[in-house]
Amino acid sequence: KMLADYQGTALLEKQLSQKLGIARCIVLPGNADKQPRVVDSFGRRLNQLLGSILPTGETLISVTGGRTLAKVARNLSPDLSKNRRLIFLPARGGVGESVVIQANSVCAEMAEKTQGQYRAMYLPEDISEKSFESLQKEASIKSVLDLIYRSDVVIHSIGSASIMADRRNLSRGEKQMVAEGEAVAEAFGDFFDQSGRLVYKVPRIGLHVRDLDRIKYVIAIAGGSEKASAIQSYMKNAPSHTILITDEGASKLILRDN
Ligand code: BG6
Repeated sequence: KMLADYQGTALLEKQLSQKLGIARCIVLPGNADKQPRVVDSFGRRLNQLLGSILPTGETLISVTGGRTLAKVARNLSPDLSKNRRLIFLPARGGVGESVVIQANSVCAEMAEKTQGQYRAMYLPEDISEKSFESLQKEASIKSVLDLIYRSDVVIHSIGSASIMADRRNLSRGEKQMVAEGEAVAEAFGDFFDQSGRLVYKVPRIGLHVRDLDRIKYVIAIAGGSEKASAIQSYMKNAPSHTILITDEGASKLILRDN
């Protein structure tokens, strides 16, 4: 890459961070919608980033599910475990989506690729408040939840609202709320409209957006021009220390839009 490219990227990253109101953006070349390989580059960049920011010793890393993170996971490497004991956890229950993209599977893959460890939590994420109260007391679930709430790092993606409403098996009534509220983004079971207003919340266990404030490293990964409005909407609610890994496809649209 030419020096001019690096300077151009640095400027783009700075403008994007300012526009989204977050600590840092890392913009990779291409457009994930058209070039699926861009998502692999997110994974390699994440590996580098974690290698440079994570302290040594035990590190608890919570991850969400989704196609993006399932692919990112495959690009992590064992060098991350040098001087570290990595433990991957599902940020939320996660059962309900297809198995390969569930948070539990993403955890297992990340652990395998980094030679770290993982803990699974097999709970439907759309569990009722009442069942949650009792399940939360189950020793096997409680021990994983306790670790999740103590996470040092969260790695999550941001979904398009309509796709996620289908994937999360929302009822007709719930889908109607998402549609009528003009939701564009979804993350951690929360659906937000273009202005960042919460329009629907899937009742759930595990991490909520508000819990992210207490977590030292929050890394969001989402790219492709089709995710531009979802990224913009979610970032209105994201903690300001969020680091976003994205691509030119999404960034250029976000910066164009006033
Ligand atoms: C879900 C996560 O599994 O995947 C969501 O729980 C995220 O928080 C979504 O928004 C993104 O999915 P994808 O397939 O677009 O990467």
